[in-house]
Amino acid sequence: MLDLLIKNVNLSSGEKNVDIAVSAGKITAIDQQINAQAIREIQANGQLATAPFVDSHFHMDSALSLGQPRLNRSGTLLEGIAVWGELKPTLTVESIKQRALQLCKWSIARGTLAIRSHVDISDDRLLAVDALLEVRHEMKDYIDLQLVAFPQDGFLRYPKAEQNLLRALDKGVDVVGGIPHFERTMAEGAASIRRLCEIASERGLLVDMHCDESDDPMSRHIETLAYETQRQGLQGRVTGSHLTSMHSMDNYYVSKLLPLIKEAQVHVVANPLINITLQGRSDSYPKRRGMTQVPEMLAAGINVAFGHDCVMDPWYSFGTHDMLDVAHMGLHVAQMTGVEQMQQAFSAITENAAKVMHLANYGLKVGANADIVILETGSAIEALQLRPERLYVIRRGKVIASTAPKQCQLHLEGISEPVSFSKGLF
Ligand code: FE2
Repeated sequence: MLDLLIKNVNLSSGEKNVDIAVSAGKITAIDQQINAQAIREIQANGQLATAPFVDSHFHMDSALSLGQPRLNRSGTLLEGIAVWGELKPTLTVESIKQRALQLCKWSIARGTLAIRSHVDISDDRLLAVDALLEVRHEMKDYIDLQLVAFPQDGFLRYPKAEQNLLRALDKGVDVVGGIPHFERTMAEGAASIRRLCEIASERGLLVDMHCDESDDPMSRHIETLAYETQRQGLQGRVTGSHLTSMHSMDNYYVSKLLPLIKEAQVHVVANPLINITLQGRSDSYPKRRGMTQVPEMLAAGINVAFGHDCVMDPWYSFGTHDMLDVAHMGLHVAQMTGVEQMQQAFSAITENAAKVMHLANYGLKVGANADIVILETGSAIEALQLRPERLYVIRRGKVIASTAPKQCQLHLEGISEPVSFSKGLF
């Protein structure tokens, strides 16, 4: 007797009309026509089944704080920093936790079951660390939450950052963060990367740095990050987040840089919603888009994921933590409208992001965790077109969220029918 049998789904890989069998929290078979008894059966009628969405770059400590203590009226980075500075002294473990738990509920409803969140360790009280460690524990049956010790005020620039970062790691934070472009000089940025990679190497941890989140084409810390990754034997364990300066770099330099990133197996996370609103902001026309070179890096064989970065916080007033919105924006900003590229944009919020996070047993395959999202659509590309309802969100074989299909009934003169937006092309 199976725990769950899902009948007649299409897979994001393109396979059509297959059944998925689940036992003891694992996928035990994916095949045409599985005939077996199951405790629960879901008739999917040709809807899309995918492994859950993965957000590999997020800030849960500031999420949903929009309006506290006041709105960012100008929408600029500078006013966002000022608003956050006003909120910081009033934060409590409980208030951070409440917002984070609310965010987790939104994520589950949207089918996002793994999140890598940076957590600011510049606050000597480490309130956000304590709050998010509790959230990670309380939500572990539903969401894989990975925490990055993020020295927001600079690792060398803020005197207590190393001490705080080590304390955060001792408390159980998973990943070593950094922000080299925010250090006082290029040399200090490079020194911060070296030291942070050493800490990761000594402790056997992953690294994920905010790197070159700038429009300055001379912000080239990614080169040092790739170099230190190789020098310290961290291949495959390091991520460069944002890399927006690459948008403005000299093309000849980028042609040398991309093979170095590939050689060091550095993962990349672009954050299209935030990059398109914050970068190029001080340009007159023409205005740069500011997102990193996503199609070029994918073509070079580099693993690239898309992250949400922010949801309703002092820097970004939008977002309901829907990764399909992220991929939708990402493919627009990067002009990835080729058929294969649209498929790649879907991978950037699923399997590529899972690789960034080193998630074990991820994917729709036999032996993987039975973590499955069924969407009201027939394919991955149509999911990007429609951003449809997540009909079922399944974690380890159990339905943990369900949403009714979207329905709109027209009441026009002589026309009374339900509207479908699906073209069924992909
Ligand atoms: Fe970020």
